[in-house]
Amino acid sequence: LDFPAMESVIGLVNRIQKACTVLGDYGADNALPTLWDSLPTIVVVGGQSSGKSSVLESIVGRDFLPRGSARELRLEIGSKSEREGGGGRGRGWRRAEEEEEEGLEGANISGGRRRRGAKAEEGRRRGGCDNDQLMRGCDDRAEATAEGCDGRPASSLSLSLSSPSGIVTRRPLVLQLHKTEQGQEEYAQFLHQANKKFTDFSLVQKEIQDETDRVTGKTKHISPLPINLSIYSPNVVNLTLIDLPGLTKVAVEGQPESIVQDIENMVHSYVEKPNCIILAITPANQDVATSDAIKLAREVDPNGERTFGVLTKLDLMDRGTNALDVLEGRSYRLQHPWVGIVNRSQADINRNVDMLDARRREREFFATNPDYGHLASRMGSEYLAKLLSKQLESVIKARIPGIMSLINQSINELEAELNHLGRTVAVDAGAQLYTILELCRAFDRIFKEHLDGGRPGGDR
Ligand code: GDP
Ligand code: NA
Ligand code: MG
Repeated sequence: LDFPAMESVIGLVNRIQKACTVLGDYGADNALPTLWDSLPTIVVVGGQSSGKSSVLESIVGRDFLPRGSARELRLEIGSKSEREGGGGRGRGWRRAEEEEEEGLEGANISGGRRRRGAKAEEGRRRGGCDNDQLMRGCDDRAEATAEGCDGRPASSLSLSLSSPSGIVTRRPLVLQLHKTEQGQEEYAQFLHQANKKFTDFSLVQKEIQDETDRVTGKTKHISPLPINLSIYSPNVVNLTLIDLPGLTKVAVEGQPESIVQDIENMVHSYVEKPNCIILAITPANQDVATSDAIKLAREVDPNGERTFGVLTKLDLMDRGTNALDVLEGRSYRLQHPWVGIVNRSQADINRNVDMLDARRREREFFATNPDYGHLASRMGSEYLAKLLSKQLESVIKARIPGIMSLINQSINELEAELNHLGRTVAVDAGAQLYTILELCRAFDRIFKEHLDGGRPGGDR
């Protein structure tokens, strides 16, 4: 096995992670599962539609994650609300910008009155319900609370929306980013299809969906079995992120009632590990105190030592308000600074706004916004990616001794297992075990070099 001499520690851990995932399929009874658990990871958590997928895509600079269809959703809202006689009690309901553009009738419930003429901007100012609350229905049944016109509170309004796609992220996605040289072609590769290079990222989207269905059987259930995806690109930083199903409050049609708790348990099982860096996604147009991500992070990391707060949707805040209280750490204090983000809106996505254009626009947003100008250099998805990469590397370096002792334990156990199985072992499984054994030996050697050799990061 040849390793580039200066392979980043993140790259090394990526390889161990893959080895553990492969071996997981063989149901091996050894230290590898413990090793996997001990690896430092970054886990993305947040409520449905908080912007998790958008943040991940922004970090990668490509569209590659499956998503629900907004158009279908909106039509459903319209018809559903009509079926219910438009009897909602909320009075201000912001229509999504693109509904207007596409001439669709929007979800527009105002005590039976349609606000067809209302401009999106006006709606945004008036109503608490925005695009993202509409969008929540992509993944689940939306529960929206409409505020009254002109800032007056109104009674709350619940909408049940079923969506054919159900929850989009139903298996953990282990996303490994590998930075390549400028000019190299970008491609993606799945661990379960290791001989295939994807250069068309829309096919990556489809493969994630198909592979999800393969295990969950087209139900709306979730499965803890991760999908492992590597992306090789000059536009990424070395980083591994795990995308998990969004926290939700209600089950949709066809889902078991237990889904809400099942998702929470799955997310919990990741974030409770002390080596887990929590990327807590919170939309800026929602109160931080009620953020699903922050609530969960607070439980497992009360001092905010390993939580990175990410505030999305800064562009959707009401005019005349800003998020400085959150971004400057006064609303909810974390040891690491909050990072503000502006992702593509649903209208941008429908218009196929290019991801790299979106990054440029995000930079402009912070540079030109009078409220955030002084923070501009510490905001945005590119900054977030670099920050996380640095953090992940330093956590890994601090954990090398622990990882090494588990690797050594694995080496011993794998050797014993191979000896025990002898010649009766299926060729395939034996070869896998052997490969993993070799990997472990290589890690052992390389980590020792990292420890002794004053490589970048021997500075722990
Ligand atoms: P997820 O369910 O947490 O993965 O959320 P998504 O990333 O799918 O985002 C849900 C919806 O919110 C999509 O329509 C996005 O376009 C929109 N969205 C996410 N982040 C932002 C943002 O920063 N600004 C705006 N305007 N829309 C956003
Ligand atoms: Na969503
Ligand atoms: Mg998502």
